[in-house]
Amino acid sequence: MSATVPSGSSGDPSHHWFQHTVFYEVLVRGFFDANDDGTGDLAGLRAKLDYLQWLGIDCLWLLPFNPSPMRDGGYDVSDFFQVHPDYGTIGDLVALVEDAHRRGIRVIADLVINHTSDQHPWFVESRSSRTNPKADWYVWNDDDKRWPEARVVFADVERSNWTFDDTRKQYYWHRFYSHQPDLNYDNPEVAEAMLEVVRFWLDLGLDGFRLDAVPYLFQRDGTSGEHLPETHAYVRRIRKQLDAEYPGRILLAEANGWPADVADYFGTGDECHLCFHFPLMPRLFTAVRREQRYPVTEILSQTPEIPDGCQWAIFLRNHDELTLEQVTDEERDYLFAEYAKDPRMKRHMGIGRRLAPLLDGDRRLAELLYALLLSLPGSPVVYYGDEILMGDNIYLGDRDSVRTPMQWSPDRNGGFSRADFARLYLPPLMDPVYGYGAVNVEAQMRNPGSFLHWLRGMLVQRRSLPVLGVGRMEVLDCPNPSILAFVRSGEVLEASIAAVPSTGQEPAVPVSTGQEPAVPVSTGQEPAVPGHRSQAVLCVHNLSRFAQPALLDLAPWEGMRPVEVLGRVPFPAVGAEPYPLALGPYGYSWFELSASVEPLGAQEP
Ligand code: BGC
Repeated sequence: MSATVPSGSSGDPSHHWFQHTVFYEVLVRGFFDANDDGTGDLAGLRAKLDYLQWLGIDCLWLLPFNPSPMRDGGYDVSDFFQVHPDYGTIGDLVALVEDAHRRGIRVIADLVINHTSDQHPWFVESRSSRTNPKADWYVWNDDDKRWPEARVVFADVERSNWTFDDTRKQYYWHRFYSHQPDLNYDNPEVAEAMLEVVRFWLDLGLDGFRLDAVPYLFQRDGTSGEHLPETHAYVRRIRKQLDAEYPGRILLAEANGWPADVADYFGTGDECHLCFHFPLMPRLFTAVRREQRYPVTEILSQTPEIPDGCQWAIFLRNHDELTLEQVTDEERDYLFAEYAKDPRMKRHMGIGRRLAPLLDGDRRLAELLYALLLSLPGSPVVYYGDEILMGDNIYLGDRDSVRTPMQWSPDRNGGFSRADFARLYLPPLMDPVYGYGAVNVEAQMRNPGSFLHWLRGMLVQRRSLPVLGVGRMEVLDCPNPSILAFVRSGEVLEASIAAVPSTGQEPAVPVSTGQEPAVPVSTGQEPAVPGHRSQAVLCVHNLSRFAQPALLDLAPWEGMRPVEVLGRVPFPAVGAEPYPLALGPYGYSWFELSASVEPLGAQEP
């Protein structure tokens, strides 16, 4: 396996594993039920590691698994130091991490850093009086007038960020649901308590955290209460602890904002390793509906360079609504009109649907969007179930529409659980189009032409093209607005990325994809650093439902030969004129640019 060299970065390159990682976001509750009680659990997830290894993912991101009254999918934590009893025990978590590491899969988890459940003992104590030892662990005020500039995130269900508490006779601050009071990070005891949580889980072997709702940690008069300098200072404090005591573990920021604001969470390379690129996601959906590259290229042009050793995390769908917070009013109206034709599809400030139904089940579109996800700058995050193009259930409340049980087989409950149907945490899909009879892992594993096999093959290809991890990106000039073409280029290292640390002292086993990586293509350019080679990959995408011509300005690569990546098929060399290609409806192709200009016939099989 090859690894790219993080350009100019210092430190141990093995710690940059996350720049070459495909993440898999998984809802423990919804993945697999090992003890037949109707709820997915850690032992169930562990039992499915073979499948995840086969698929070719590199890192699991576990949605919250702490004890919780589950009024917000577990983002309402009532004990940071335990595992929810429905999901198992701390021992199950450790066994999962160790087994994953043995397979070369890392594991990160959500850290719900901004707030707790109102049933957390810290809040129960804090609300009990104004003088108790935890009285200042949350944000209290005598009236609800302070910080009017701070927006209400769930504005469709909450009227204010303040809620009156009858016992303490004061208002408490919350950026999300009123049952999720915000912690008071101005209190040094709170800041220290959360660092203790961080250490606790890292000591058990987790490879890092997604920092949930990180922009909101502090409040200051006259501000929106987002992205404050104090918040960045606290993130730096967590990072410092990781660098000092847990090198190679990562922080991923969930900061839903404009690229320039979000990029601040990289700091100067001293805050988060990764940040989600939220605004890119809705623009991908706009681009394929408008059949125009502009929405994507425009947001990429607004995306700042990021410090060495950092990476964007990019995604198509996740456990939340397809958020439309970071778009203009006009774009939002357009996306609602196109993708939420039934008002029940709307959730908060977005659309509560999964990938496949959003695309009207069009497999070509799903492939196109995944081809983009796997080639645009950033580490891709796959949402569980999207690898089989699972559907959603818009009749379920809040964001449960996209959190139904994983569909493993056509058996009872979709093979998710052997519990009685009535006991399941949510009903599995049973409709004729997306129900488990029609869409399931077993059937798709048996069918080499399935989307599951297609995606797995793409992950194999991506692994063979390390430049897609951190290479530069140049968007190509093309007169046809439906064509989005770019070149990813840079130097790649012919060495393995660091093995996953094994918490059980077992040797880490490299992931076996079952498929040979593609033979590397020589670019013929002298590497700037010994042991490295240059790699350049041309990625071309047709956003239109009709076949389209593409005339690409490939002047900097004149004389080189594009070699199609999936079939290693050599194409005519790049000449002085714009390079002509034809793409089928929603077509895409990746080409490695090679210096070899042997006659075409000589390279054909
Ligand atoms: C999570 C949501 C959750 C919210 C409050 C978000 O950013 O992704 O699922 O409701 O934080 O914790």
